Amino acid sequence: MSELNLILLGPPGSGKGTQGEALQEDLRLPYYATGDILRAAVKDGTQIGKQAKEYMDRGELVPDEVTIGVIGERVENPDASDGFILDGFPRTVPQAEALEDEMNKLGRKMTAAILIEVPQDEIIRRLGGRRTCEQEGHVFHVEFDPPNQEGVCDVDGSPLIVRDDDKPEVIEKRLEQYRTKTAPLVDYYEDRGILQKVNGDEAPDDVADHIRGLLATLRREEEMEM
Ligand code: AP5
Repeated sequence: MSELNLILLGPPGSGKGTQGEALQEDLRLPYYATGDILRAAVKDGTQIGKQAKEYMDRGELVPDEVTIGVIGERVENPDASDGFILDGFPRTVPQAEALEDEMNKLGRKMTAAILIEVPQDEIIRRLGGRRTCEQEGHVFHVEFDPPNQEGVCDVDGSPLIVRDDDKPEVIEKRLEQYRTKTAPLVDYYEDRGILQKVNGDEAPDDVADHIRGLLATLRREEEMEM
């Protein structure tokens, strides 16, 4: 396939990060997760981190102008010229329009927006049991994907913590933000003919297999058109 420019779309806890890590290993493409980028900025105390923190703590979306700048500069980077994986961006229609403008400017197109669908009760179970590595953000679940040693990251040995926005009252706010601001992107990408739906209510490896399958189909379709 000429280039693979992917968006992972879905509610909080649907498994975007989990699948993003798997895809990055498979495809060897740059992976840009706005949540991880913003959490790193908060930790480092940068200007962007200071702007983002109060919104993130409340479970609200960070203003569009902040995230659009963060992603725009990465998409333009030569590292991303063969493709890239976006997780958590775009999350509003203005962000999607800004991404489209940026891609048009570069003479490129998005390949697919992969919507990971998961029922709400499952989302709440997942976020309630998530544990995140303090150092690099590697993700585990106390029940579904436990680390080898409780409280310790398998990858880099750093402590596993509960994210501030995984508290029950903040989870509810994030879900409300998803319904009102991000869900409209499903129609947006359906209208552009690049929406691909995946059942996320299965084991992580099975979800990853579905995503591999749909990317293989897209490759075959592209070859037939050439
Ligand atoms: P962000 O970090 O992107 O949070 P999110 O979208 O709410 O997504 P999550 O990271 O909570 O979940 P996920 O879908 O990645 O699931 P995961 O793989 O971890 O954003 C955080 C905040 O930053 C936002 O609230 C906002 O303030 C701000 N922000 C970010 N981007 C922004 C933007 N573009 N504009 C404005 N603001 C922005 O999985 C969850 C758990 O389930 C894990 O424990 C995992 O082990 C487990 N799990 C995963 N898959 C499965 C499975 N198939 N079966 C069982 N368990 C599973």
